[in-house]
Amino acid sequence: MSRNFVIDGESFRLDGQDFRVLSGAMHYFRVHPSQWAHRLRMLHAMGLNTVETYVPWNLHEPRPGEFRDLELLGAFLDAAAEEGLLAIVRPGPYICAEWDNGGLPWWLTDVRVRTSDPGYLRYVDRFFAELIPSVAERQITRGGNVIMVQVENEYGSYGTDQAYLRHLADELIAHGIEVPLFTSDGPGDWWLTGGTVPGLLATVNFGSEPERAFETLKRHRPGEPLFCMEFWCGWFDHWAGEHITREPADAADSLERILAMGASVNLYMAHGGTSFGSWSGANRHEAYHATISSYDYDAPIAENGAPTEKFWLFRDILRRYNPDVPEVPQAPAALPPSAVALTGSVRLADAGTGIRSTAPFPPTFEELGLEHGLVSYRTRVPGPRKPYKLVVDGLHDRAHVFVDGELRAVFSRDADDALEIPGPAEIELLVESMGRTNFGPHLGERKGILRGVRHHQQFLHDWEVTAYPLTVPAGFGEVVAEPRSFFRGEFDVAEPGDTFVELPGWGKGYVWVNGFCLGRYWERGPQQRLYVPAPLLRAGANEIVVLELDQVGPLEVRLTAA
Ligand code: GLA
Repeated sequence: MSRNFVIDGESFRLDGQDFRVLSGAMHYFRVHPSQWAHRLRMLHAMGLNTVETYVPWNLHEPRPGEFRDLELLGAFLDAAAEEGLLAIVRPGPYICAEWDNGGLPWWLTDVRVRTSDPGYLRYVDRFFAELIPSVAERQITRGGNVIMVQVENEYGSYGTDQAYLRHLADELIAHGIEVPLFTSDGPGDWWLTGGTVPGLLATVNFGSEPERAFETLKRHRPGEPLFCMEFWCGWFDHWAGEHITREPADAADSLERILAMGASVNLYMAHGGTSFGSWSGANRHEAYHATISSYDYDAPIAENGAPTEKFWLFRDILRRYNPDVPEVPQAPAALPPSAVALTGSVRLADAGTGIRSTAPFPPTFEELGLEHGLVSYRTRVPGPRKPYKLVVDGLHDRAHVFVDGELRAVFSRDADDALEIPGPAEIELLVESMGRTNFGPHLGERKGILRGVRHHQQFLHDWEVTAYPLTVPAGFGEVVAEPRSFFRGEFDVAEPGDTFVELPGWGKGYVWVNGFCLGRYWERGPQQRLYVPAPLLRAGANEIVVLELDQVGPLEVRLTAA
């Protein structure tokens, strides 16, 4: 049977019938594939009929022309179809999403991103040629479940290059996309006049006041369906900021009002999941704020897949519009709480994971070909000379500053830090990247040291550089409680279950379980634990590795239940 999904005046029609899209965002790249089925069932059981996902270009093209894991998107769409859910795909190429660089690859340094710069479009076209056929073959018109595809993402928040948007739409069509294309933007004149495309559906993103938002949309697009493509029912956190939540009753009230207006909706997020590894992004308005690893988002379905109060409130509302939904599945099993002793360690500098080079100036991460991790920059301040200020000009994002082998300061981005030292002196800066800005005009930023290191006015040259990708070392010695080291422990599991890692008393760093990087931790919070999905564990022996940069705590890792 050939199916279809079309826009008909102010409504959507699915196979000829009026249809309300009740969608929820869940990013396949933020949930372990073995858990997709459970989470999709949860979305469905909440009363949704559709799942929405972005596609992060940088995950799929780690180096120019080198593609990986492209089959994940198709597998996810198939899992959604299996669950009986329709799907909306938002392939970018820019996605925002609190994801490193808004999904743009870190190596896009020679082009003007998010414009019709031919150099940029060549990269986009090459990526779309790899990706879009897997979406096209899963469209509802071809027996699949994809009903809509987004062009760019909130482009009105960024620019006015209509030729760029038109190019993206034409590329999607050229690769066979025949379901409705759409844009999504803030509900205001400047957004909607910059980010929409004549002939494509315009949707709006907001968290509250649906009447006002849709009034604006209607003014721009009379006679078209109303769709809130991102109903922000929760929010995300920055490191060292407050934990942000959205009152369940307040969110439910907005949802109720959106639906009462006859609109379609996509809950952002229905299930947030985790920005594993170093994938979380950052915001920069006045200053730079890195985003935490958890993407729980205070969503109705929590990071570990559990239903929250918001889930039950939303379910009551959504089921009035979509009564035929499955039972809420059982919550996944959790591991019993335990403490894992850290019994081995190795210093970062001795771990054998570093890649050494020399350069007259301190190269950026991008010049070193390093996506994330740490870079050690060493040089000498000539002397004798009296004390002057040592400053890092363009620090992205944080540096431990050593003088003659001794830790003297930790510099932060945007902080105007300086250290008075005399010459001669041997200096080392160990610079950590905390995630690339994913929203606004500062997109496409570099990491490391952007302009240089100065003593007084003088730039220092002649650098010895060691790049440390985020990899687990091969060998560990007896444990020594020294920061800037990897620590290792082993633990036995009878039957895999979900757990959370906590490191009370520790400072800042990264955690791996069985070689998989869970993300960052930092005593400054607000995130205090890292989610370990059960499928990362195996019955029998498991390994945990911690890279601690600031301060070593008690030599154990706590595994806690939800
Ligand atoms: C915007 C973007 C999303 C996300 C949200 C905030 O709406 O389109 O990708 O960044 O903000 O979570």
